Amino acid sequence: MKAKELRAKYIEFFKENGHAEIKSAPLIPDNDPTVLFTTAGMHPLVPYLLGEKHPLGTRLTDYQKCIRTGDIEEVGDPVHLTFFEMLGNWSLGDYFKVESIGYSFDFLTNERWLNIPLDRLAFTVFAGDEDAPFDEEAFNEWRKHGVSEKRIAKLPKKDNWWGPAGETGPCGPDTEIFYWTGPQPTPEVFDPSDKRWVEIWNNVFMQYFKNAEGKFEPLKQQNVDTGMGVERVTAILQGKASCYDTEIFAPLFAKLDELRGIETPAERTRSERIIVEHMRAATFIMGDGVTPGKVDQAYVLRRIIRRAIREAMKLELNKSFTVAMAQVVIDNYKDVYSELAINEKIILEEFEREERQFASALDRGTREFEKLIARVPAHIERKVISGKNAFNLYETYGFPIELTVEMAAEKGFTVDMEGYQKAFEKHQELSRQGAEQKFKGGLADHSDETARLHTATHMLHKALRIVLGDHVAQKGSNITAERLRFDFSHPDKMTPEQIAEVQKIVNEQIQRELPVICEEMTVDEARAAGAIGLFGDKYGERVKVYSIGDYSKEICGGPHAQNSKDLGEFIIQKEESSSRGVRRIKAIIKH
Ligand code: ALA
Repeated sequence: MKAKELRAKYIEFFKENGHAEIKSAPLIPDNDPTVLFTTAGMHPLVPYLLGEKHPLGTRLTDYQKCIRTGDIEEVGDPVHLTFFEMLGNWSLGDYFKVESIGYSFDFLTNERWLNIPLDRLAFTVFAGDEDAPFDEEAFNEWRKHGVSEKRIAKLPKKDNWWGPAGETGPCGPDTEIFYWTGPQPTPEVFDPSDKRWVEIWNNVFMQYFKNAEGKFEPLKQQNVDTGMGVERVTAILQGKASCYDTEIFAPLFAKLDELRGIETPAERTRSERIIVEHMRAATFIMGDGVTPGKVDQAYVLRRIIRRAIREAMKLELNKSFTVAMAQVVIDNYKDVYSELAINEKIILEEFEREERQFASALDRGTREFEKLIARVPAHIERKVISGKNAFNLYETYGFPIELTVEMAAEKGFTVDMEGYQKAFEKHQELSRQGAEQKFKGGLADHSDETARLHTATHMLHKALRIVLGDHVAQKGSNITAERLRFDFSHPDKMTPEQIAEVQKIVNEQIQRELPVICEEMTVDEARAAGAIGLFGDKYGERVKVYSIGDYSKEICGGPHAQNSKDLGEFIIQKEESSSRGVRRIKAIIKH
């Protein structure tokens, strides 16, 4: 069975069982500044898991594109991916363990659906601890379906508990389903530590809320949240040990072979896998409007593109390849993810630009790197690249730090990461916390500077509407620790007087020392309250609305300054054309 058919079957099965299909949300969570990417199907559904009513009811199903960067270093082995699709079904206070397990059992084993022999499956359930009891109900339910006791492992929280992602939030025990990928016959006793048992589906029973004291309170609404990885399940259904061996990656490998001018090899190397995986992930990230850059998602994107380019160089593919490969990704997925078709031109242009930029920087940077290495005498045991030098490679030659670490390791060197972070922070004026979070690879940039620039962007948006008119709408916003960049609809070049007027209004308002307040409400409430901003396709969702005194009210995920007085002086540096009918302003704040 191909991935396409698996996706369709899954949705069809859950629709038959009363679930409404919802659309895959963007990879960039738009109301959650605490994470960079959507990491699971449940992520866009958190408000509903906490009790808000979903407009489509209490039973939902979808396929959701996800990015997880935690295992990025493992990508290249046969199993790890940064981008994957997750099939999911949810009960929002509707059915619970009995039905959830029943659905999973039916979908997996029934001949109308996946028709997997029960003998190939094994299960885990939560063993119980001081916070919550053994999940006897889940255990008994699998038994009722004829599963042998020897195939049900009872495991602790570390294995069989989901959430919360932050300090507090909905969570609960889960039951995981494993598939035997080793030789037949399948072992009678399930050993969860044997890697040939591959996890294919996770059913989470959200019945607790972890509160600020770390206590687990029963949740008012009991939910089910499940996740099944498309790539993995496709591989096992095709009897393949690796998700890289299915039709999902085949056209990408084929394009790579063509570009290299080689015949299809018998086995794929680590470099080849990294290239196809990262190209797919990068294309999807760009499909959601991110372009390579220095912070947040833009940085992750740059990092994975540059890693792919470097792996290509290892294969001696010394010509441009990213555009051709991105085209394959777009062609393969555009009927399922229309954003790839809509943004095709810009995706291809950005790959071309990034590859060109990096190629020249890499050449010079590699020479610089070789010099650094050569300076250290061979007999020295602890070979270290200083933080300052690593930072210079980043700043001057555009080497992502991970690249420096990897290249250093190849030569038996380590990198002084602490020193690097210090140099980075000093330069970028990021708060210590912001920088550390970024290097952990998961969390958004919450530096004070970024927050101030977010607030300044709202103030600019409002001033533009005052000066130019209500046709001004946000078309794009990009904030780094140094500056803001705001794209908005307006047909003409702004006059110097208009620019001066906008700047004056913003500065006057800053001086009024307006408090910045965040409230959560539904989109309809936000509209009724006169909020501006990107409403998009968020019908029925809860959004954050930031008010800056009585001056501005706008939908936004944050983060923001606490008071306009924290902003200092607002200075417009540039007004230019962005695209047809869209102008762009770059501005900074000085304080
Ligand atoms: N949210 C659960 C997971 O990602 C289903 O495994």
